[in-house]
Amino acid sequence: MSAPTLAGTALKVTPLGEALGAEIEGVNLALLDDASFVQIERAWADHLVLRFRRQQLSDLGLMQFSRRFGALDPVPIRASDVMDHTDPRLAIDPEAREYVTIISNVKVDGMAIGGLGNYEAHWHTDMSYNDTPPSASLLYGIEVPPEGGDTSFCNMYLAYDTLDKTSRERVRSLTCVHDASRNSSGELRRGFADNDEPTRTIGARHPLVRVHPVTERACLFLGRRRNAYIPELPLDESEHLLDYLWAHATQQRFSWTQQWQQHDLVIWDNRCAMHRRDSFDDRYERVMHRTQIRGTTPIRYV
Ligand code: OGA
Ligand code: MN
Repeated sequence: MSAPTLAGTALKVTPLGEALGAEIEGVNLALLDDASFVQIERAWADHLVLRFRRQQLSDLGLMQFSRRFGALDPVPIRASDVMDHTDPRLAIDPEAREYVTIISNVKVDGMAIGGLGNYEAHWHTDMSYNDTPPSASLLYGIEVPPEGGDTSFCNMYLAYDTLDKTSRERVRSLTCVHDASRNSSGELRRGFADNDEPTRTIGARHPLVRVHPVTERACLFLGRRRNAYIPELPLDESEHLLDYLWAHATQQRFSWTQQWQQHDLVIWDNRCAMHRRDSFDDRYERVMHRTQIRGTTPIRYV
């Protein structure tokens, strides 16, 4: 007799990078069964970032798959030159407007339909300037350029584990203020004043080392470098330590880079991975739809 198996077929999980990232094959996310989802969740905990190629997802399909991971978080505050998320000119299902964030350089009547333009987006954690940042983001490639616009991810468990013992102990006792005023490509968000003084940063304060609520492992928790501030330290020491931690965490050996194909769906764990994006030529149109999953308040690792 053959060994008992879970209902459905086993998915194929292939690591994509040394540090993080895996490809999942053999699944149609629009028709996902519970047994496959259990395998996806396990692979996600192990690999932090998962890629699914050749998926056909409407906005509602993207939301439905996303909800497997938890309640959806509403779209973040837009930059001032980006269309409002309720703008009827957006090609987006009205039911999806509150939850599907558009990331795009495409303009209609001179207004961008989504955030981040064609610029480089610097290393960041999504919406970490909120008290409860999302646990995950899911990004679906609808139109992708033939070159440029790659997205890199880095493993913040490894970033913490590879610090020397003295630094690990030091950072465990500290917090950081995460700037809410600008997005990862530097655009000022609506309703925020410009500020260049880290001690006056407006945004959530989080432990520098958090415990992952599922894996219970420690991860370094950085949001975005600009205007970040460690309020327990004088400004020059805060700057020095943050420069060191950012350089350490974003080393090539802790990262993996996604080169997009149309209809790739990528999910990242926003608690233990940061990401960045390369710029691309503005003659190409890049249209990505993103959902974000409501997280829990970051808890200090002790
Ligand atoms: C995001 C983001 C990167 C990209 O959606 O949060 O940072 O590749 N996007 O567009
Ligand atoms: Mn992001």
